[in-house]
Amino acid sequence: MNDKQLVAHYAAAQIKNGMVVGLGTGSTANYFIAELARRQNEENLKISTVSSSVASACEAKKYGLPLLDFENVNALDVYVDGADEVSPDLSLLKGQGADLVREKLLATASKEFVVLVDSSKSVERIGQNFAIPIEVMPFAWQLVKKQLEIHGGQGDLRKNADKTGLASSSYGSLILDMQFDARMDAKQLNDILNSISGIVEHGIFYALATSVLIGKAGQIQILQAQ
Ligand code: A5P
Repeated sequence: MNDKQLVAHYAAAQIKNGMVVGLGTGSTANYFIAELARRQNEENLKISTVSSSVASACEAKKYGLPLLDFENVNALDVYVDGADEVSPDLSLLKGQGADLVREKLLATASKEFVVLVDSSKSVERIGQNFAIPIEVMPFAWQLVKKQLEIHGGQGDLRKNADKTGLASSSYGSLILDMQFDARMDAKQLNDILNSISGIVEHGIFYALATSVLIGKAGQIQILQAQ
């Protein structure tokens, strides 16, 4: 079992009957979804789920997990997802999968937000390994980019997978991948990005994770928010 599977199975073992569970996106979240489905089938676990993306909805359907329509969900017990970076204060960078709005809505609405990573995701500062994904209204991207440049941001619109055009979210937003001065911390970036009109959502998840499970060489380190 690899470190992503290890934390995913640990998290799935904590899920109890009757819970509404948010399903994340990516390879680690997929291990969690598969293990949840195994518990449903073999242990008769009774849960409802809600997906953070089209991709995670497909995974849930593939395994026969009961999936609620997003618009019918008004509260969740737990949202379990991966991340692209985790800093020591439990700030996260997310959004390589581009569906930031659903991910942040679930993280904000859930009683608990459990983040599953292997040790390759641990960083000293958010933005260390990846540009910050910023989802923008398509007509606003030039004006938003200019505002971000005033704050020292540098970057451009994300290209689609085969580089023939632009990447877009499931809801048609464009993605600006921007890098900022290394002296800006997650809180500062979060405040700036929350204040600019035309930004639909961004990949800084500040003060949202309730716990982070880090898998490293077959061991799990659990970090709890204060
Ligand atoms: C999806 O948009 C991201 O926020 C994912 O949580 C992230 O890319 C994690 O992916 P892996 O679990 O595959 O590393």
